[in-house]
This record gives sequence, C-alpha cells and structure tokens, in this order.
Amino acid sequence: MLLPLLFSLNILRFALACSPPPPRDTYTDGNNTSSYPYAVPGPEGSLDPATTGYFINHVSLNTNNLTRSLDFYTRVIGMRHMFTYHLTQHLSLTYMAHSQGGRNGTGYQTTEELLRYKNNAAGLIELVHFNTSRLPGDPAPIPGPDKFTSTLSHLGIIVPDPTATQARLEEYGVTIYKKVGEPMPKDGPLGNKFSLGDARGLSDEDFEAIQKVMSELGMLNIFAADPDGNLLEILPLNEPNLFG
Ligand SMILES: *[C@@H]1O[C@H](CO)[C@@H](O)[C@H](O)[C@H]1NC(C)=O
Ligand SMILES: *[C@@H]1O[C@H](CO)[C@@H](O)[C@H](O)[C@H]1NC(C)=O
Ligand SMILES: *[C@@H]1O[C@H](CO)[C@@H](O)[C@H](O)[C@H]1NC(C)=O
Ligand SMILES: *[C@@H]1O[C@H](CO)[C@@H](O)[C@H](O)[C@H]1NC(C)=O
Ligand SMILES: *[C@@H]1O[C@H](CO)[C@@H](O)[C@H](O)[C@H]1NC(C)=O
Repeated sequence: MLLPLLFSLNILRFALACSPPPPRDTYTDGNNTSSYPYAVPGPEGSLDPATTGYFINHVSLNTNNLTRSLDFYTRVIGMRHMFTYHLTQHLSLTYMAHSQGGRNGTGYQTTEELLRYKNNAAGLIELVHFNTSRLPGDPAPIPGPDKFTSTLSHLGIIVPDPTATQARLEEYGVTIYKKVGEPMPKDGPLGNKFSLGDARGLSDEDFEAIQKVMSELGMLNIFAADPDGNLLEILPLNEPNLFG
C-alpha cells in the first residue's frame, strides 16, 4: 500500500516541479496589459513653488522605555544621541541622528555639529517619552506595529552591507523577523495580517500572493524590530532599479 502511494506522490512532485508557475493576475490600463508586480513612475511637473524648501526632518516614535530605546538606536543602529529635552518631569523628547556628512560612513560628525544643523538634517528620529503611570485598565505597554495596526508601517534604514548588518543585529540579540535571502515568514508580524498594514479583510490566498511577491522583491532585505516593536526594514544601498 505504502509503496504505490510514495510512488504516486513522487510522480505528483515531478509534475509540480515541471509545470510552469501559475500565471499572475494582470492589470489592464487602456491598451496595455501588465502583470503584477509593476511600478508606475509618478508624474513630472512643477509643484507649488510655495513649498520649496520643505523636507521631512524627523519621524517621531512613542517609546515605552527611553533607556532601552536610546541604547538600541545608539549602540545597535549607530545613531548619535543629539539631545534629550526634558519639558517637565513627565515628558522628554530625545533626538537621534545618523552622521549626515557622508552616506558611506565618512564625514563623522560631532554631537555639537549635529545640533547646529538639527533643522537642516533629514532622517532624524525623535523618541517621545511620557513619564507617567498607566491608567487603570490600560493595556500596558503601548503596543507597537508588531502587535496592532497603526498608521506607522515601518522605518527604512539603508546600510552598505545587509549581511554584515545582520550578523551585527544577531550579536546584539535584536529580534529579526526576516533575514537576507529568506522569504517573508508565515508567522510573526510579517506573517500576520495586521502589522505592516491592515490586511485582515484579505483571503489567505490573496495574502499569500502578497507575501510571495514581497519575498521576491525583498530578498536582500532584513526586517527587524526596535525594543518597542517598531518594524525596521534594512535595505542595501544598491537595489535593483524598479524602472529598469
Ligand atoms: C488603443 O489602441 C487603439 C488601436 O490601436 C487606438 O486607436 C487607441 O487610441 C488606443 N488607446 C489608448 C488609450 O492608447
Ligand atoms: C502603454 O504603454 C506605452 C508604451 O510603454 C506607454 O507609452 C503608454 O503611456 C501606456 N499607456 C497607458 C494608458 O498606460
Ligand atoms: C528600561 O530598560 C532598561 C534597559 O533595558 C532596563 O534596565 C529597565 O529595567 C527598564 N525599565 C523599566 C521600567 O522597565
Ligand atoms: C518621572 O516622574 C516622577 C514623578 O512621577 C519623578 O519622580 C521622576 O523624576 C520622573 N523622571 C524623569 C526622568 O523625569
Ligand atoms: C565617501 O563620501 C564622501 C563624501 O560624500 C566622498 O567624498 C568620498 O569620495 C566617498 N568615499 C567612498 C570610498 O565612496
């Protein structure tokens, strides 16, 4: 009994291996038909000149434990602690910066210099810490995107060599949800339908299709989490160009 079953399973496996992958869904726009994934460049054209000089300076994260977050973003991620501003005994704001002088790691800057250029720098992180006891009945601590859908999906960090960065994250015991060369996992915040975005309304099949495409596009990427559960996508500087 067993042998014929094994034999037929083998035949099936052979047939599966030889069959072409199922065709992807297609998308039609006018006379053009594309298959997913596809990228569409945004329009050219001028923007309101009144917005000249606008840029994103910082992303602000609520932290449950400032000591822990400060340690993570300095020691592991290599950001400088620019300052902590204690507004009262119940609220502090902490700014973190990567050296802005050279993206290849040169141009190392002092804290004093980063402070001077604070409002002319991009890519800063602000850590907001309310020093207050929780209200009765509150779910403590504040849930990160790994626990609950919020308008923050993840932060993106460019590194010269993701494999070297991964070894570093492992050395520091950082939670890594997806390693270089791995597909999107089936469990954890990347495998659930509520962390990167709210996909709870999708069927398992549709969600799996997303996971598959994300796996193919993000083979070189790492997904990890900071101590509050904010998801960090770590990407190589040289990624394949979406537009060829
Ligand atoms: C689609 O193709 C037809 C025939 O070639 C052409 O007449 C029409 O203008 C095209 N439509 C668009 C939106 O490009
Ligand atoms: C269809 O493809 C052609 C050639 O790539 C492009 O010029 C055109 O803008 C596309 N049309 C639409 C409606 O996307
Ligand atoms: C905050 O984090 C630090 C460092 O990880 C830890 O020693 C400390 O116990 C934490 N504080 C609280 C209130 O959990
Ligand atoms: C936090 O608040 C308590 C009073 O509730 C105060 O004793 C303590 O110094 C405050 N901590 C900081 C870092 O300001
Ligand atoms: C690193 O960046 C600096 C400043 O942008 C540049 O002058 C230098 O040539 C770069 N070095 C390498 C090895 O890419």
